[in-house]
Amino acid sequence: MTHSPEHSSVGRQIVGNDEQPSRRDFLARKLKAGAALATLAVAAPCYGQSGDVQQETDGKEATGSSTSKLRIGLVGCGGRGMGALGDSLTINDNVEVVALADLDANACRRAREGLVEQYEQRGAVADNKIHSGLDAYKRVLEDPDVDIVYLTTSPGFRPRHIAEAVDAGKHVFAEKPTCVDPAGYHICVAAHDRAVANGTAIVTGTQYRRQINYIEAVKKIQEGAIGDIISMTARYCTSNIWYRGRDEGMSELDYQLKNWMHFIWLSGDQIVEQSVHNIDLMNWVMGGPPETAFGSGGRFHRPEDSQMWDAMSIDYTYPGGKVVSFKNRTWPNCKTDNHNVVYGTKGAMHIGAGNRGSSMFDAKGVEVWSCDGNIFDAYKQEHKDLVDSIVAGKPIVELKRTAESSLTAVMGRMSAYAGQEIDWGFVSKESTLNLFPEDLNEGTVLKNDGFAIPGKSALV
Ligand SMILES: NC(=O)c1ccc[n+]([C@@H]2O[C@H](COP(=O)([O-])OP(=O)(O)OC[C@H]3O[C@@H](n4cnc5c(N)ncnc54)[C@H](O)[C@@H]3O)[C@@H](O)[C@H]2O)c1
Repeated sequence: MTHSPEHSSVGRQIVGNDEQPSRRDFLARKLKAGAALATLAVAAPCYGQSGDVQQETDGKEATGSSTSKLRIGLVGCGGRGMGALGDSLTINDNVEVVALADLDANACRRAREGLVEQYEQRGAVADNKIHSGLDAYKRVLEDPDVDIVYLTTSPGFRPRHIAEAVDAGKHVFAEKPTCVDPAGYHICVAAHDRAVANGTAIVTGTQYRRQINYIEAVKKIQEGAIGDIISMTARYCTSNIWYRGRDEGMSELDYQLKNWMHFIWLSGDQIVEQSVHNIDLMNWVMGGPPETAFGSGGRFHRPEDSQMWDAMSIDYTYPGGKVVSFKNRTWPNCKTDNHNVVYGTKGAMHIGAGNRGSSMFDAKGVEVWSCDGNIFDAYKQEHKDLVDSIVAGKPIVELKRTAESSLTAVMGRMSAYAGQEIDWGFVSKESTLNLFPEDLNEGTVLKNDGFAIPGKSALV
């Protein structure tokens, strides 16, 4: 296995759908999808009536009827899918779950059991709204009873799921990363524009953008509290990651779908799958994507059939010659660190992941400011913002920003895998890399092309 997964036979299908749906078709779908909300009593226009047709409601509080709530369909009933539903149901009184989809029917059933136990009627999904298999998401998208679709599968599917959800007139919550290659990035950018044109929301799972210590720290940096930015370090260094073994008799496709973290077309490698949070912060602080990436790395501890590396270091250069030194690794028994530092002419800002908070130091190293933050509040806030924006008729669309951060991570991986320096123009415009298997279906025969080896893996 000496072949880079980026240059494997895994296909070169161009799947973007840049065609704009006709305005009339879209409005018909939108009104149908939003009809159930016509009874939602809010001062702002109802979803089904927002934008093109403004209509006041009677201002009375809606009571208990299932049609008074925004209805969620979940695609991907795993850890984060269930977490995201829980966050939304906890912070929003006006949502309920009406459809579930997963590759695995048991995952859907387990999900419903958990939902009913905790949220009773608001999680009581009907039998005929539970779907399984690779096309299960389509059943959710074509369901007129679904207003918002939550997309929480493994990342490789995300761009195509988002694009189809937008074209179905659904509001979207999409977990990070939103793409694992340049082809997926282009699908996201086009879907963002269509959502804006259509008046539907897309909120993404970059919860740190809604976490108080991140928001306050970035604000201080932008106000000049640490002077001019000189450089930054960003680290996502952990000690282990899950690995799901092959069941007896499993096809290669089913195995890769189950053990998705270890296959680049599905996860993007650790830098994309996990460290996109740090990379999103880098782009936030620097005001946009980098100009170049110069990467290296390798692997010591991965199981033989994993395509992932377990260490990567990238120097990203941003406009003005500001260099961000990024690294991620998964090494047992070694120092862990998930934390970012921005260095300025007057001091430094430390921004810690999870609940570690932020601290600012002056040029002498004295702490002059600090702020706590709670990631669980941030996880909930993204769902409140999504729902509030829909109810207010001012849908948030933030996909482009997250797609840009996802592509910045992809750029680092491509640079490290190939052992080359690459620039933003190449990755965002010229690269033809598309890792998604052509015409993917349950019978698709996949092979494992192994992990990338710098100097042997070409850049495409
Ligand atoms: N924002 C965060 O901090 C955060 C935290 C954890 C996970 N995540 C993200 O959430 C996503 C899911 O992660 P997870 O930990 O829940 O993984 P998981 O493996 O627990 O769950 C994924 C689920 O999706 C299903 N699935 C996969 N492909 C599918 C398809 N094509 N159609 C329908 N179902 C499909 C799987 O069967 C599985 O049940 C990842 O993108 C991950 O990065 C984000």
